[in-house]
Amino acid sequence: MKVLGIETSCDETAAAVVQDGHYLLSSAVASSSSFHVNFGGIVPEIAARSHIEVIIPIIQQAFVDSSLGWKDIDAIAVTYGAGLGGSLLIGVLTARTLAIAYDKPLYAINHVEGHVYANFLTDTELSEYSLPKNQPNFPMLALIVSGGHSQLVLFRNHFDYTLLGQTHDDALGEAFDKVAKIIGLPYPGGPSISAKALEGNALAYPLPKAKLDAKYDFSFSGLKTAVLRLAQKEIGESFTFPSKDVSKRLSEAQKANIAASFQRIAMETVVDKTIQAYHEFQPASVVIAGGVASNLELRRQLSERLPITIAYTDPKLCTDNGAMIATLGCFKVKHNQPIADPYTLEIQPNLSM
Ligand code: KG4
Ligand code: ZN
Repeated sequence: MKVLGIETSCDETAAAVVQDGHYLLSSAVASSSSFHVNFGGIVPEIAARSHIEVIIPIIQQAFVDSSLGWKDIDAIAVTYGAGLGGSLLIGVLTARTLAIAYDKPLYAINHVEGHVYANFLTDTELSEYSLPKNQPNFPMLALIVSGGHSQLVLFRNHFDYTLLGQTHDDALGEAFDKVAKIIGLPYPGGPSISAKALEGNALAYPLPKAKLDAKYDFSFSGLKTAVLRLAQKEIGESFTFPSKDVSKRLSEAQKANIAASFQRIAMETVVDKTIQAYHEFQPASVVIAGGVASNLELRRQLSERLPITIAYTDPKLCTDNGAMIATLGCFKVKHNQPIADPYTLEIQPNLSM
């Protein structure tokens, strides 16, 4: 069974073909992120326009790379939420049209659930991907950390899960993006902070970890503010000094030390809760998902502190892609999940898990 996955929830336009929920046949991704760099964050109108321009070529690329055609495809899976409204619309309308034109069943995918399913890909002939040998077992604890979400979820089985906790304010990736802006590193902040952190001392500055009543909830806005206060102090200014002018006065060494210290504490925050949940629920496997899951400091801390081994997926499958959507689509087909109506499927920008 082969499923075409389509993903356009944010600034990546992506399509992929996955067979039987484990075999990656192709994954084509185009990002409009370079167009957003000058704005320090995603401009929804630019993202939507860019999806319109590249969605058809990206789907064609997914077919060319897998040497397949429409006759080989059994179903279409598309992200219908959560995400930017204008971006989601392009993927959903394209998928609806293709489902009608080629008479294929259509599956509506929750983007955040999709991220988790990147971990179920175990086989490919594409040499640029390094995949785990086995699929995760249930019960499975998932730490989902992206630009829009930070959640701990316990999966008892496919389509049977409990949300243990989530962020009260910023998502972890969003905190990386905001801290990068404060210290003058380019968007997206995750990759630029982790690269800069390599030159710095992660113990240079003490930064706070948020304490919350709910056991598995997160909060990152206090940490972001603490970084701003630290940067203002480092340049000898008070907290009234405009945040947009701080980065010009920081030295490269100061930037590197702040990046490394922030990254260490931010990752410790989510790793602490993951370890706590591991001990409480004794899952058979732990997976990490979402753009921040590609972070090597997160992987290092987890590997050091978790009593079981995590089989990490390829970093290219952590950030937004069509393969994770196609993989979850395969499991929806296998488990007789409801099919979406291609004439009426609507986007849900605020969809939650
Ligand atoms: O999953 P994703 O591609 O899109 C969303 O669903 O949000 O995640 C994007 C987020 C961005 O905030 C980006 O800064 C972060 O993931 N990210 C990283 C790394 N690579 C991407 N954060 C930390 N370290 C990284 N290496
Ligand atoms: Zn995502």
